[in-house]
Amino acid sequence: MNQPFSGFSKLSKEEKINWIAATYFTTPEEAVALLKKYWNSDAKIQKLHDEFIENTITNFYIPLGVAPNFLINGKYSTIPMAIEESSVVAAASKAAKFWSTRGGFKATVIDTEKIGQVHFTYKGDVSKLELFFAQIKSTFFTDTENITTNMQKRGGGILDIELRDKTNLMENYFQLHATFDTKDSMGANFINSCLEQFANTLKREAQQFDLFSETEKNIQVVMSILSNYVPNCIVRAEVSCPIEDLEEKHIPNPISFAERFVQAVKIAEIEPYRAVTHNKGIMNGVDAVVIATGNDFRAVEAGVHAYASKSGQYSSLSHAKIENGFFTFWLEIPLALGTVGGLTSLHPLVKLSLEMLENPSAEELMQFVAVAGLAQNFAALRSLTTSGIQEGHMKMHLNNILNQFDATEEERHQVKNHFKHHVVSHSGVVNFIESLRQ
Ligand code: HMG
Repeated sequence: MNQPFSGFSKLSKEEKINWIAATYFTTPEEAVALLKKYWNSDAKIQKLHDEFIENTITNFYIPLGVAPNFLINGKYSTIPMAIEESSVVAAASKAAKFWSTRGGFKATVIDTEKIGQVHFTYKGDVSKLELFFAQIKSTFFTDTENITTNMQKRGGGILDIELRDKTNLMENYFQLHATFDTKDSMGANFINSCLEQFANTLKREAQQFDLFSETEKNIQVVMSILSNYVPNCIVRAEVSCPIEDLEEKHIPNPISFAERFVQAVKIAEIEPYRAVTHNKGIMNGVDAVVIATGNDFRAVEAGVHAYASKSGQYSSLSHAKIENGFFTFWLEIPLALGTVGGLTSLHPLVKLSLEMLENPSAEELMQFVAVAGLAQNFAALRSLTTSGIQEGHMKMHLNNILNQFDATEEERHQVKNHFKHHVVSHSGVVNFIESLRQ
């Protein structure tokens, strides 16, 4: 295909599939059959999924797993995790089980402030703009009353609006920087609706402000949009125990384990190459719960990594210390999540995941997500500083290698028996299957 297809979006689903199959596949019938194989047999559910996005041709599966035994603030929970990578759910489960007998996880929401900005240009006297803003500030609140009434009834709404002078960064650039409390919703629609009204109010009021010259009245709004950087929407998760309590079969010397663990975290704090992989491990847990509960993992990822760079250098999101004979490991991350709105009441598996978590508030969900991230990080660091990551990861990855080779039940049985006593590696499994097949 070497020219644009105008009107593709207007085709029916069937027509889109047929066109894709005929254009890109050597065996179009097979491509069509595969796409249709992944349709849901319940037409109502399929329609729901078709309408989540645009130009839907089929469904793309990601497994939904569960990690049980999470003792969080004294209460047990089972955490749903949607993720494609082997060993993540096992690792979270293992960390949950480990900490369940050592006091469990403590999780605290530190703040829940969301942010949105109207970016605009103004050419003129800054002191007049400041006076103008001070005089019309209350109008931003009154003009948005129709949008904010329900949110206010739930205890949320617009917290504050500031005028920010950004002319040191770009000529004539100013912002309305607004903060919000959106209670149990992630708040994107609410915030963006408020911001667009602020922008209209700003332009309208500027036209009527007597002290402005004609040039100054001509405020240009560039855009109005929420920020996914939410450094004041923070949750903390922590585990802690006396060092000697860390001892178990695979941790015969808890003191040297704790010391090495703290060193590993320190390296992630000071070395960006390591910090990125370290934080990737945390995001294994975070994203899996964020996706299972129907939240926006791109927004979370972008915000979390910006937070990891807040000092000017990308750094670890988690920290560890040994103090007075206690080992403590914690993380603080920004999470703007919702348990109402968006996909939460639409996607049947999201509803199920939220029910599994006993229909949490947004603050409770922040705690689950942060705990899953910390558990994941603990499991990875524990492996990295003891056996190495490959042993456990490859043990869990074994099924994928067997599937790649279309192993029979008998071959699977023999491979699993053999690798109970040998470290799993891709080449080791391949060689063993080949030896069985000779
Ligand atoms: P193990 O000691 O061989 O497991 O650990 P086990 O068979 O003794 O079982 C102990 C517990 O682990 C189980 O308890 C489960 O909780 C869990 P039980 O249920 O028996 O009462 N568990 C499982 N849960 C579900 N399904 C399973 C399963 N097996 C064990 N099949 C394990 C094996 C993989 C858990 C361990 O080696 C581990 O935690 N490894 C770390 C794996 C990891 O971090 N994976 C993430 C992918 S690697 C990565 O992307 C991030 C990284 O680069 C980040 C970084 O660098 O920091 C590493």
